[in-house]
Amino acid sequence: MFKIKDVIVDPPFVLAPVAGHTDSVFRRAVKGLGGCGLVVSELASTEGMTRGQGRTDHITRFGEEERPVAIQIFGADPARMAESAAMVEAMGADIVDINCGCPVKKVVRQGGGSRLLRDLPLLERIFRAVRDDIRIPLTVKIRSGWDHDSINALEVLRLAEDCGVDALAIHGRTRSDFFSGRADWGVIAEVKARARIPVMGNGDVFTPGDAARMLRETGVDGVMIGRGVLSNPWLIRQCRDHMTSGEAKTVSLRERMEFMSAFLGRVCAEVPPPVALGRIKKAGGYLSKGLPGGSRLRGEMHAARTTAEFFAALEGHFAALEAAGGLDQPFTPPAPAEQGGHPDADEVEDDHRGRPPE
Ligand SMILES: Cc1cc2nc3c(=O)[nH]c(=O)nc-3n(C[C@H](O)[C@H](O)[C@H](O)COP(=O)(O)O)c2cc1C
Repeated sequence: MFKIKDVIVDPPFVLAPVAGHTDSVFRRAVKGLGGCGLVVSELASTEGMTRGQGRTDHITRFGEEERPVAIQIFGADPARMAESAAMVEAMGADIVDINCGCPVKKVVRQGGGSRLLRDLPLLERIFRAVRDDIRIPLTVKIRSGWDHDSINALEVLRLAEDCGVDALAIHGRTRSDFFSGRADWGVIAEVKARARIPVMGNGDVFTPGDAARMLRETGVDGVMIGRGVLSNPWLIRQCRDHMTSGEAKTVSLRERMEFMSAFLGRVCAEVPPPVALGRIKKAGGYLSKGLPGGSRLRGEMHAARTTAEFFAALEGHFAALEAAGGLDQPFTPPAPAEQGGHPDADEVEDDHRGRPPE
């Protein structure tokens, strides 16, 4: 357990923001499985929010059962960032989070996301403007720096603390790394060692053992997990169980099947039809990783022209698995390399492009 000002994060496992995936439906599903102390929304454009055309509503909306919930905003204009933060507070969110790590060109070109790591005077103006306009806790999510010649996480930490930021999450890669190589947990440990505010460590946690190792090796207050949860939504609960009892219960194929049907059905019920098919294909792609015959199922789901065709493929696959020996065998999560591993720049750009325009 740790606290971000008066917000209790218990257990200390946090669902990371993953644009195109961790919308309210997904966050509620993960939260419902247990073990998750905090969820963070996908990044919301402060340009979109302050132009008042309602085009970021699908990103900033959240359910009561998600609490505590942080809404993440991005941008480069201090006044718009502050105005958006005040809107987030008025919506009743528990925390405002500032995106200082997004590497995608569309965001960086506008001066936001990880670009702010190269302009600390601007970042300071943003921190101060936002801090002045909200009373709820303020957090920031950063990468370790822009590139390996300009790693400045400690400077950003100091600035954040001086400006009244209440907690910091750090992904142990630079902007230029995108998702290549391994996350550097050494820099996470350094930041934690110097911090007066709580620090959440992030990057390459794909198993409960990884989470335990990150806590042990870096001393962070919380572990933030993104891609690993997309293909194994039980991962956060398993991290909690591993921490409390040393054991993490595996789920059966049947539990996975029931989760997929219920979750993907909920997406169709809540997301507008033109977006829903693409959304369930993407989520189904991750959730089918490691399933027997998963790649064939992914091919069928991908080829579906309607949601009805999609669900027919899914149900057919599970019926075949049942006939072939039952669904009650334990499901072994896919190897880390299969779990979304290291999406390349194009995939991340696509995820941002794939969202409704802001
Ligand atoms: C497709 C994709 C979308 C992402 N969207 C966001 C985002 O909206 N905001 C953010 O701060 N980080 C975003 N991230 C970064 C993740 O939150 C996280 O920092 C990164 O994936 C490393 O953690 P992991 O190894 O647990 O996945 C995104 C990552 C991916 C792969």
